[in-house]
Amino acid sequence: MSRVLLYTGKGGVGKTSVAASTAVMLSKKYKTIVMSTDPAHSLSDSLNVNIGSEATKISDNLYAQEININDAIQTHWNDLKEYLTALFQYQGLDPISADEIAILPGFEEATYLLYINDYVKNNDYDIIVVDSAPTGEALRLLSFPEVMRWYMVKIFPISRTAAKIARPVMKTFSGIPMPNDKVFKNAETLYDDLGNIHEILQDPDITSIRLVTNVDQMSYNETKRAFTYLLLYGYPIDAVIANKIYPENTGDFFTGWRNSQEKILNDINSAFPEVKIFKSYLQDYELLGTEKLLRFAETMYEKNDPYSVFYRGKPVEFSRENGKTIVKLKLPFADKKNLRLYNRSGELVVEVENWKRIMYLPETMANLQPENAEFKNGYLYITLS
Ligand SMILES: Nc1ncnc2c1ncn2[C@@H]1O[C@H](COP(=O)(O)OP(=O)(O)OP(=O)(O)O)[C@@H](O)[C@H]1O
Ligand SMILES: [Mg+2]
Repeated sequence: MSRVLLYTGKGGVGKTSVAASTAVMLSKKYKTIVMSTDPAHSLSDSLNVNIGSEATKISDNLYAQEININDAIQTHWNDLKEYLTALFQYQGLDPISADEIAILPGFEEATYLLYINDYVKNNDYDIIVVDSAPTGEALRLLSFPEVMRWYMVKIFPISRTAAKIARPVMKTFSGIPMPNDKVFKNAETLYDDLGNIHEILQDPDITSIRLVTNVDQMSYNETKRAFTYLLLYGYPIDAVIANKIYPENTGDFFTGWRNSQEKILNDINSAFPEVKIFKSYLQDYELLGTEKLLRFAETMYEKNDPYSVFYRGKPVEFSRENGKTIVKLKLPFADKKNLRLYNRSGELVVEVENWKRIMYLPETMANLQPENAEFKNGYLYITLS
């Protein structure tokens, strides 16, 4: 089974360098592809080779890809274009062109994710290393399948539970002109693929999300937030990489920095007790080209194999207690005063500051209301009744 290793973190902390070097190291043992989902691709710069929009062979077991959204649409999205054209016509809009598809919100995300889905489904690679965009955009990418499926159910003539059964009903009662069979099939496939990728990204045996951080207060704060939000969405984080630590021999000028890094490293250790923390030092060379990247990865991972799953935790659990349903969410850094909870038509909505998670409640819980919420040992216990 393939593994998906996704590296994210604040801008400039070293995501691309860590992802590329991890891929180089893994390619010595496994068939590996490193793919950039940051539209500002810099994998080519890091690996010091030209990388195409399709998987490009770099060495024996190493492939790299920087998806160009326009190329991807031209080669892979003709069928979808047909479906969108039908939908746009149905909405009374002009037919859509390939250029317009490219700028539709979410298309970039969908394309990246569908590539990952195909690679995992077809077992094309042992490992897919994802060099993702800075935290905010990465969160948008990860929440995309859930959000997109929600839209498809609400807006498009497709049903979450029984697309095939709903179809003739839709046609009879709503008078919606249905796209032709082939086009409809494509929409169904897209819907299923999004469901599949959602499962892939939430399965700790397949996907490991690794947060790259620098050892300063601002990066650390962002890492804490990312940790909470990723758990809120149910994504498996198994490691934090503390990058650009100043080595002992950096002289007097860096004494202050070394002291504050020591303190923040302690905080990092106590803040993420379950996940593996990798300490990665500032190197005295720029991390360019496969040779240097390999050297960098070997010092960072020491004897560990980055293929491993370093932590398997369940971020969301449902249980019953005294006839009530308890939803247990891992949320170590959330603050109760910033928390909002409500049931909206069978969906449990959890808002923390300006982030929101919508969880489809199982059928039997769809009418339950959040009655009480309690933080205990880094978990949020929501009682539904
Ligand atoms: N441990 C390190 N030692 C020395 N240089 C490093 C280290 N980590 C990263 N760098 C350098 O820092 C710069 C930024 O790294 P990189 O591009 O990997 O960050 P990024 O998080 O991907 O940035 P962006 O948010 O722009 O995508 C690069 O020049 C890289 O070589
Ligand atoms: Mg980068």
